[in-house]
Amino acid sequence: MKHLIDPTDLTKQETDQIIALGEDIIANREKYRDSLRYHKLATLFYEPSTRTRLSFTSAMMELGGNVLGFSDAKNTSVSKGETVEDTVRVVGNFVDVIAMRHPLEGAPYIASTVSKVPIINAGDGSHAHPTQTLTDLLTIKRELGHIDGITIGFCGDLKFGRTVHSLIKALSRYNGVKVILIAPDELRLPDYIKSDVCDKQGVDYREVHTIEEVMGELDVLYMTRVQQERFLDLEEFERVKDSFVLDSEKMALAKEKMAVLHPLPRVNEIKPEVDDDPRAAYFRQVENGKFVRMALMYSLLKWKDDPCHVMPEHPEYFEDATLVCRNPKCICNHENIKHLFHETESGVRCAYCDSKVK
Ligand code: CP
Repeated sequence: MKHLIDPTDLTKQETDQIIALGEDIIANREKYRDSLRYHKLATLFYEPSTRTRLSFTSAMMELGGNVLGFSDAKNTSVSKGETVEDTVRVVGNFVDVIAMRHPLEGAPYIASTVSKVPIINAGDGSHAHPTQTLTDLLTIKRELGHIDGITIGFCGDLKFGRTVHSLIKALSRYNGVKVILIAPDELRLPDYIKSDVCDKQGVDYREVHTIEEVMGELDVLYMTRVQQERFLDLEEFERVKDSFVLDSEKMALAKEKMAVLHPLPRVNEIKPEVDDDPRAAYFRQVENGKFVRMALMYSLLKWKDDPCHVMPEHPEYFEDATLVCRNPKCICNHENIKHLFHETESGVRCAYCDSKVK
């Protein structure tokens, strides 16, 4: 059985297969209508969402299946203290696949260790958002015709932006991708992504402070929102919240053929005047999200008993009573679970949230 917790849980070949299937679904919607009839999806959303939850729902409905779940855990037995593991053990009796969003990093991973149905991470804290990554890859492919060889600028909150972390991981497996990181010092990409992903995979990347100095080089500009809900220090949020604003003047510096992506929601970082520019791809990106989630659920359910499609094993994970994960938003600091760690290029890290331990 295959879960999707991190983009690298899918091989590069499986990722490309899902993107190609998404394209085929777009071209032949009738062919897939009812292909998951009698199947059920649970959407367990412990954190707010518009796009991800509703696109999963719409995707399963278009495949002929049904959906149940919650969008506010306060109205469930979670409020009585039920753990993520127990909730998933229970819900797995009712459905064929579960999409989970959780504010605690590592929650979907711990769910996957006890689940009898595939778990899809629909976003865990600042950590990962692999179905947004599939959406982004399909959008880049449809907008530009290819993913290999692109130059992509990531702009805004690169520290807490789970969509950025996941997309960089996925892009590191494509050929000749150049990454430009555009962020204030307070919101720079975490070092573990630079060392354990970019350096390890030989990704060409550099860091700059303004959009203007690189706009003309970009095939893709990936804008992000500065996320108030991730800051522990609100003064710091106020200082950086309007660091970058994309407007028509900056768009005039861009190539004629390029694409502006944004996982959305946006706040101030893209002015509405950009929406009518043909290069503004963020609302087309939303639509692609539904098709790629159709492709993902169709594939995970088809692969369920196929020994060729299993989760990568992690024999490198180890327990050590002398180590402590200090991330207050890691699931290991909220539930009574084994504390697991792994050795990486950049030191020892928590196996659930990837924060540095030593
Ligand atoms: N892109 C994204 O995850 O949007 P939602 O938070 O609305 O699901």
